[in-house]
Amino acid sequence: MTVRRTALVTGASRGIGRAIAQRLAAEGFDLTVSARADRPLKDTAHELRAYGNRVESVSADMADETQVQALADAHLERYERLDALVLAAGMGAGGELADYPLHRLDTMMTVNLRAPFQMVQRLLPALRTAGSSPSGLGAKVIAIASITGVASEPGLAAYGATKAALISLCESITVAEGAAGVSATALSPGYVDTDMTAWVHDRIDPAEMIRTDDIAELALAICRLSRHAAVPNIVVSRAGGPLWRG
Ligand SMILES: NC(=O)c1ccc[n+]([C@@H]2O[C@H](COP(=O)([O-])OP(=O)(O)OC[C@H]3O[C@@H](n4cnc5c(N)ncnc54)[C@H](OP(=O)(O)O)[C@@H]3O)[C@@H](O)[C@H]2O)c1
Repeated sequence: MTVRRTALVTGASRGIGRAIAQRLAAEGFDLTVSARADRPLKDTAHELRAYGNRVESVSADMADETQVQALADAHLERYERLDALVLAAGMGAGGELADYPLHRLDTMMTVNLRAPFQMVQRLLPALRTAGSSPSGLGAKVIAIASITGVASEPGLAAYGATKAALISLCESITVAEGAAGVSATALSPGYVDTDMTAWVHDRIDPAEMIRTDDIAELALAICRLSRHAAVPNIVVSRAGGPLWRG
């Protein structure tokens, strides 16, 4: 009997997470998809079932520890293993370093770092199960970080710090769990054309931004690598200008 691979995708109702969920569904993964708002998430889950896979949707706010735990537990109740954990839910709030509100930093740290950390902790046994499976593909954690986590950008000190921490977490996962077949990759793009980048449309044409499909293509490639290859971080820069900017 062929064992079906499973993935859990946060931030799956739109943008980058949704594009990745689509690629994984087309690749034959059974899925748990998550976001806060129930309706768009259910619509996404319905569309993904067109590929003939099992797709469960679980609403959860990554700012709430109890809901993060419930999301991980919901996946474990439905599936015995986790081949790909895609951490795409995230938030960004710009502001100058000098007077950035600390409560905003706290919330962003919780959503962008603490929740991914908690998800990985809770789901490690299921990742290890997939990591040692005979397919030889191992288990992957894929976290959507940001180019600002690699090269800082004016007005994005807090956001960049959370994403730098997420990149570091990915490295630590691979170091700690690589022997068990579990590795992590941060995908660190510049501006991608999604709802999140609507606020910069006055200075950057969305047609010149990275496409969600570009990031999804990389996520899929990571999932196809053998357990012997570890890819810590992939920076994706916007074409047509300096390399190290959003
Ligand atoms: N777009 C870019 O230029 C860009 C560049 C670099 C990195 N990133 C990162 O890529 C990731 C995805 O961004 P995107 O551009 O695809 O954004 P998006 O289109 O706004 O989608 C964000 C997704 O995350 C969910 N989400 C947001 N806050 C959440 C929370 N507190 N708890 C649970 N789910 C939450 C949203 O659904 P609900 O609102 O219903 O919860 C939605 O499904 C983020 O981590 C972002 O920081 C984006």
